[in-house]
Amino acid sequence: MKINKIKGFSDLFTPDSTTFTFIENKARAIFANYGFTELRTPILEYTDLFKRSIGEETDVVHKEMYTFSDEKGRSYSLRPEATAGVMRAYIENTLYSKETVSKLFTTGPMFRHERPQKGRLRQFHQINCECIGVDSPLCDAEIITMLMHFLTAIDISDIALQINSLGCKNCRPVFKQALSDYLNQLNPEALCADCQRRITTNPLRVLDCKQESCQQVVAAAPKISDYLCADCQKHFASVLGYLEAQKLSYELNPRLVRGLDYYCRTTFEVVTKAIGAQSAIAGGGRYDGLISMLGGPDLPGVGFACGLERLALLVPPVEAKNLDFYLLVMDEAGFAKGFALAETLRSNGRRGLLNYQVAGFKSSMRQADKSGAKYCLILGSEELAKNEITIKNMQDGQQKQVLMEQVLQEI
Ligand code: HAM
Repeated sequence: MKINKIKGFSDLFTPDSTTFTFIENKARAIFANYGFTELRTPILEYTDLFKRSIGEETDVVHKEMYTFSDEKGRSYSLRPEATAGVMRAYIENTLYSKETVSKLFTTGPMFRHERPQKGRLRQFHQINCECIGVDSPLCDAEIITMLMHFLTAIDISDIALQINSLGCKNCRPVFKQALSDYLNQLNPEALCADCQRRITTNPLRVLDCKQESCQQVVAAAPKISDYLCADCQKHFASVLGYLEAQKLSYELNPRLVRGLDYYCRTTFEVVTKAIGAQSAIAGGGRYDGLISMLGGPDLPGVGFACGLERLALLVPPVEAKNLDFYLLVMDEAGFAKGFALAETLRSNGRRGLLNYQVAGFKSSMRQADKSGAKYCLILGSEELAKNEITIKNMQDGQQKQVLMEQVLQEI
């Protein structure tokens, strides 16, 4: 019996893999302009890392993690996002003692056991950026600006940047209380069973519940924007001012709380109407208490992640580069010479294939045609005897014979 892939996981062939590479390369180039360097963290971490950072009451941790234990009873989880692992690596490697600002990006697969649909997978890929060590609003504005430049560079349009401030450890408790008071005076039936529990455990999570009934309730709930302290108001106004100075348009969304517990102050999402229900192509924000909560120094940070699958649905088709040659050896005795020629061409930057077995001329030419190569290089017994190659231009059908040593110049 054949074994199929797991539901919600996918195999990426070209052109999808070509599009992914195109997007990642653009990200690398643009992020480097801002001083970001790449960090690769493990895919598997101790479950506690995600519980403590993302929050036990979030859907991501509560319902969506792939978790298992080893024979000693230690619990591990496949990473559902990258920030927690980046922070763990930052603290474990004491980067803070080596530099005052760390700018780290990471790409790779993440795992969430959600219901798969268009733009939502169980194994998906993120490009993730974190800027650690600065609490200036300039840093928030810079990272958002970089994200928007990146999205423009990969030709994504018709997107909206939504932004909000979630306040800080001083003003958020006041908002939380107001929210609990509001939720508590409702008929409990108005909320789903999870949200009835969340009123006491983490009322903020009611705000991003996906249930229709809860969303209706949330529409009339108190807004965080009415509860920000003076410092948070100032910080947020500054972020918006810097974005305006960069001529970046944004939409204020006082309901944008994001689905992860570590955020404070600025939160943002980039959304589109073009890919259906899974409209968020990127999301992020500030997480000033996270590093100390994970046992590191009290340092601030801000970052974002984009979903590669969702970006790939939006970028215009990326043309895969054609092969330059298809080397067709028509005589068994010619393979050694043919292989040597193919290697010379490849080491000089030409892309090409070699046939591995002699077959009939017609079917061999069909293979050459199918490969999409610009030239077919034919090495038959006649060419072999004269140390020559027949070069056939596959676009116009023109043919000529040249010395073996001249092929490189000709293609
Ligand atoms: P997030 O909003 O959970 O944030 O995910 C970021 C992006 O990952 C989403 O906007 C979406 O494009 C993509 N994504 C999430 N889940 C799926 C899925 N099941 N299938 C396909 N794509 C998905 C974070 O993960 C934060 N760690 C971002 C961050 C970094 N905040 C600060 N630093």
